[in-house]
Amino acid sequence: MDVAIVTYADLPQLDANESPLLPALAALGLDARPVVWDDPKMDWRVPKVAVIRSTWDYHLRREAFVAWTTKVGRLTRLYNPPDVLRWNTHKTYLRDFEAKGIPFTPTVWVPRGGSVDLGALMRERGWETVVLKPVVSAGALKTYRFARAQLDAAQACLQSLAALEEVMVQPYLTAFETEGERAYLFFDGAFSHAVRRPPGLKDTPRGIQQPQLFEPLAEELRLAEDVLAAVGQPLLYARVDVATDNEGRSRLQELEATEPSLFLNLDPAAPARLAQAIARKL
Ligand SMILES: Nc1ncnc2c1ncn2[C@@H]1O[C@H](COP(=O)(O)OP(=O)(O)O)[C@@H](O)[C@H]1O
Ligand SMILES: [Mg+2]
Repeated sequence: MDVAIVTYADLPQLDANESPLLPALAALGLDARPVVWDDPKMDWRVPKVAVIRSTWDYHLRREAFVAWTTKVGRLTRLYNPPDVLRWNTHKTYLRDFEAKGIPFTPTVWVPRGGSVDLGALMRERGWETVVLKPVVSAGALKTYRFARAQLDAAQACLQSLAALEEVMVQPYLTAFETEGERAYLFFDGAFSHAVRRPPGLKDTPRGIQQPQLFEPLAEELRLAEDVLAAVGQPLLYARVDVATDNEGRSRLQELEATEPSLFLNLDPAAPARLAQAIARKL
């Protein structure tokens, strides 16, 4: 086996977004196969490289996943590298970008076991609606939206989330409902394609229903490139998610360098670009 495409037990044959990678690697003469990350029978010395794609249960047991990346990183070449995965699976990584002057969705960080007075915060910051989410999450799990009128419920939710782990409090960005968020995809540092996506939060209005190819905005592409430059090491794959704040400014929402959908099915040339980037690592 040349390339292990790493997925999880519920999706042993990969997602439709990701499966075009297999024929693209085969076209380069490479033997690539999906492998479930926590399959106890897998010998990780066998593949020449392992590329994480759809490990969509990692956030339910991050410690085990991070330990796995360290172990596998010693047995084969794992992408992205284990130190990047450890960093990127805990959303406090976003503070590193904030410290480097990258515009990032305004966030108040509530430490584990800590608290803030949400009513006072919302008044001071002029936030009509807030989003609460834990620092380890994916697919909008445990991500909640509350308006000022729901303050008691919001405060109770914050306390119960913060009892378990650090929590992010953000203003609710209404542009998610109309414009969605933009995903800028990069392979081996080179821009590949951009996708506009509907909000991941359920029960919110959605101006777009399905992810769709998107003509990159020059200003957002620059922001995405600044984000990657600030990482300080090259990434085999990266998705820079950009949102519009309530003042109309583009901001970093997330850098997805662990297991993002890369929307390979939306751009016919994208699978070959990623396959070539992987082949260069062999
Ligand atoms: N500040 C925010 N304003 C509006 N919607 C948000 C905000 N933060 C998160 N969301 C919604 O929750 C979803 C998931 O949040 P996100 O920060 O992208 O984390 P993840 O993708 O890791 O679950 C987003 O797609 C969006 O719909
Ligand atoms: Mg997201």
